[in-house]
Amino acid sequence: MKFRSLWVAILLSLSAFGVRADDPIVIRFSHVVAPDTPKGKGAEYFKLRAEALTGARVRVEVYPNSTLYKDREEMEALQLGVVQMLAPSLAKFSPLGLREFEVFDLPYIFDGYAALHKVTTGRIGRDLLALLEPRGIKGLAFWDNGFKSFSANTPIRSPADLAGKRMRIQSSKVLEEQMRALGAQPQEMAFSDAYDALRSGFVDGTENPHSNLYTQRMHEVQKHVALTEHGYLGYAVITNRRFWDALPRDIRRQLERAMEEATAYANRIAKEENDRALAAIRASGLTEVYEPSEDELTAFKRALVPVHEKMAGRIDEALIRAIYRETGFDPSRL
Ligand code: LMR
Repeated sequence: MKFRSLWVAILLSLSAFGVRADDPIVIRFSHVVAPDTPKGKGAEYFKLRAEALTGARVRVEVYPNSTLYKDREEMEALQLGVVQMLAPSLAKFSPLGLREFEVFDLPYIFDGYAALHKVTTGRIGRDLLALLEPRGIKGLAFWDNGFKSFSANTPIRSPADLAGKRMRIQSSKVLEEQMRALGAQPQEMAFSDAYDALRSGFVDGTENPHSNLYTQRMHEVQKHVALTEHGYLGYAVITNRRFWDALPRDIRRQLERAMEEATAYANRIAKEENDRALAAIRASGLTEVYEPSEDELTAFKRALVPVHEKMAGRIDEALIRAIYRETGFDPSRL
């Protein structure tokens, strides 16, 4: 944890001294995106419902936009108990030693939200969340964002258009391999650093759903966005297990209910939010939005789906097959 973050941790811990019995239980919910995104709105909705259902016995403080912690630091802060809730993207769990979560990063593995939900709302999703427990983390829910577009400063019509480019990615070996499959150079960095890296030219391009591209103003420093929908980006909402288990039973039940409601809300608005962000990107006139033809999309699929086989040993081949069975995805039908 960096020096500034350490100070924040110390100050937050000190603020816990002098707590009276009738003081509300405080949940610090830290995240890295803008308030005006599916995750940002989901967190605010959880706050609203948690405070209402517990009669204000719980207070939820939402810290958006990496104001408290950046990607890696927030995981450490949760395990230390300095923050109580996070919703990191599923691409950010491998630093905990949980490579299985990278299955969500496999290009084109989910053909839309319905296929994805078969996994996140079923046994596979439950088993994945259970893997967090030995790390002192309780998985509460999956929240959607959406499907990613590539962006760069030159047109993107075929995989070859990204060859040789330095592309910002999240901390996932699958995303690294995905960029290599295009002949691009992956550059891992925190979300909060992506805009500056694009603006300064340190990286040439990136990928994200439109809600993130737009609210971080990445479209202002990228001349081209291609609607490749080549991968999914979503979140696991997590809490510190010791904190969760120590809550009074009635409070825990009310928070579970608030989380169920917030999950339904976040997943209901995710597509709308991304559609709205895409319309705003188009309206800005600052970047050209390209819609690839069927043949062009097939070329991206042919270039990227071999990443599944390449990463099977790392992730867990049985898990990948189980997802294929659940969603009906067949890599040989390209
Ligand atoms: C990113 O780092 O690109 C995104 O995962 C950020 C987020 O949490 O949506």
